[in-house]
Amino acid sequence: MTLPLRWALGNGAAVSPSAEPDPAMLELAVDNGDPLDSQVDLLVIACGEADLAGAGHLERADLRLGGLLKRAITDERFRARPGQSLIAHTHGGLPAVRIGLVGVGAGAAAGAPGRALRIAAGTAVRLGVSVGAPRVAFTWTGGAGATAATEAAAEGARLGAYRFDKYLTDERSQTTSLAALTLYPPGPPDAAEAATALARAETATRAVARARDLVNEPAGVMTPARIADLAGGWGRQAGLVVEVLDRAACAKLGMGLFLAVAQGSAEEPRFVHLAWSPPTSRKRVVLVGKGVTFDSGGLSIKTNEGMLDMKTDMAGAAAVLAAAVAAAEEKLPIEVHALAACTENMPSGSSYKLGDVLRSLDGKTVEINNTDAEGRLTLADALTFGLRLQPDAVLDFATLTGACVVALGPYTAGVMGNDESLATAFLAAAEQSGEEMWRLPLPPRLAEQLKSEIADLKNTGERWGGALTAGLFLKEFVGNVPWVHVDIAGPASASKEQGHVGKGATGFGVISILNYLRRSAA
Ligand code: BES
Ligand code: MN
Ligand code: ZN
Repeated sequence: MTLPLRWALGNGAAVSPSAEPDPAMLELAVDNGDPLDSQVDLLVIACGEADLAGAGHLERADLRLGGLLKRAITDERFRARPGQSLIAHTHGGLPAVRIGLVGVGAGAAAGAPGRALRIAAGTAVRLGVSVGAPRVAFTWTGGAGATAATEAAAEGARLGAYRFDKYLTDERSQTTSLAALTLYPPGPPDAAEAATALARAETATRAVARARDLVNEPAGVMTPARIADLAGGWGRQAGLVVEVLDRAACAKLGMGLFLAVAQGSAEEPRFVHLAWSPPTSRKRVVLVGKGVTFDSGGLSIKTNEGMLDMKTDMAGAAAVLAAAVAAAEEKLPIEVHALAACTENMPSGSSYKLGDVLRSLDGKTVEINNTDAEGRLTLADALTFGLRLQPDAVLDFATLTGACVVALGPYTAGVMGNDESLATAFLAAAEQSGEEMWRLPLPPRLAEQLKSEIADLKNTGERWGGALTAGLFLKEFVGNVPWVHVDIAGPASASKEQGHVGKGATGFGVISILNYLRRSAA
């Protein structure tokens, strides 16, 4: 019998040396040794309902601790519910100073692959922060294949460590971050697979953190010009071609819809185009993101409540820009273009008006009956720009309608489109990423609502089915090219924390896009 080689590796070794340091995020390692031997400040075991009775790490730890763990489970009524956690001192019974349990409900293997693990690993990191334990170990039982599970846990841990605290000056800014987290996968993958899993998680989570940062920044800071500068900088560093069009350049092209939205704002609009063109490529994918840096509603002005979170209205742009940069960092053999028409939507003496008839980049005329339906206007011109690149597939991501949040709630994105196989492929990538998405229809009859007496289209239909009429409006601008539209109005930001996803910007969509591109390249 050959003993398995003992190894432990960290992301310092797994990551390309060009990657910028991201101090807000966590140093990760994978270790194939026994987690119970880990010399850390806190050892966290993800625990499913079945593990409470089973003979896993929990049972072994309890033996070493003389029954302390099971007593704590009873005393604290720990039922392994998702999100539930428990923490106890080991009093020298284990090398770890403390032991923690994090519930994963039906178990790490249940539900979408990796979803429970992402949440649990994020929760483990938050536990470590809350008790001031700088070094944390995390282990689990079951789950997806060891490599996929390691990747999911690594993603969850690093995303759980994300914080946007640059504007805090009070004691909350003093919270110490974790120094390091070591993963102990059950049935560990070999060292090379573990290194790949860490590297993939590193790239993906850096992209999510970038997207979250873009969205979390106040609109007064994250202006269209600032997005172009930041994304352009990441893009050039990763080897993408960066094209930024200002107002005059967009006017010359004829982007009448995008520029109408921009005309009420004192901030200059920017059309951002990042292009990743590898030497060999399997297909050409165009990603379009809604980049409204602040949506006041324009002259159809929103209420205070409705406007409160509208710095988030560029989350689609943030997602596609960050994902395209990640695709380049991984040198995927697939051509990727990220497009974001960035502008504010503001009321002023120069705003576009109700009743205006505008001409789109592709020549269609649109009568405006609500200036708060601005996203579809900016997207329409970006989609036309995208079609001119002759893509094999177009995917757009947009905080497009409150109606989609009414339909699906705050955690689930609505997925519409004109091509079954593209929609299926994208939804499979979303499933792999643990992001909740649900297919919505585009009923042709609803498109009647978008007919205008004096123009080719109106920009809004009636109230009911608002997510679908928005999708139907976009459909007018994609021709026969396979297209998927993802309405992320709900999940783009979170009002409750859950494991790897904190309050505020979630970076929703980034990992699904990246996984879609990875799968398309494979
Ligand atoms: N950016 C909003 C959609 C939105 C609402 C995103 C809530 C996130 C949370 C979009 O521009 C908008 O205002 N949509 C209108 C459409 C309506 C005027 C047809 C809406 O949803 O009310
Ligand atoms: Mn709006
Ligand atoms: Zn909007």
